[in-house]
Amino acid sequence: MERTLSIIKPDATERNITGLVNAMIEAAGLRIVGQKRIRLTQEQAEEFYKEHKEKVFFPSMVQQMISGPVVVQVLEGENAIKHYREIMGATNPAVAEEGTIRKTYALSIDKNTVHGSDSPEAAAREIEFFFNHTEIVG
Ligand code: CMP
Repeated sequence: MERTLSIIKPDATERNITGLVNAMIEAAGLRIVGQKRIRLTQEQAEEFYKEHKEKVFFPSMVQQMISGPVVVQVLEGENAIKHYREIMGATNPAVAEEGTIRKTYALSIDKNTVHGSDSPEAAAREIEFFFNHTEIVG
């Protein structure tokens, strides 16, 4: 069993499709064992994505992430990190595979509906960033 951190992004909360995204997560066999709807501050978004700080897209990505509420989630399952990345699809929805969350719902590379941790180290850091132990119930 493994856990990963998911964020349902502002483009999805704005369109009222968080339940539709959750349905795809659950249909794929991942369990949502922690979940809360929050609004990120600019400082939180910059800290969360600090590994991208030097990228040209960093400022617009941060602005997008603070443009509305997000739903942060802990997902649990076998190979949850890799499994979630598979069902999310490619970062750029234009090249995401059919049937993935991003192919189905994402609007653009910035409005790409979901984030998922990309490694065990990232998952541990990102889960701790948003959740304490009492908020994760497996
Ligand atoms: P995410 O998985 O949340 O991680 C960083 C985010 O930056 C990514 O999803 C995209 O929404 C956003 N982004 C914008 N432009 C790019 C780009 N050229 N390459 C990668 N990520 C990008």
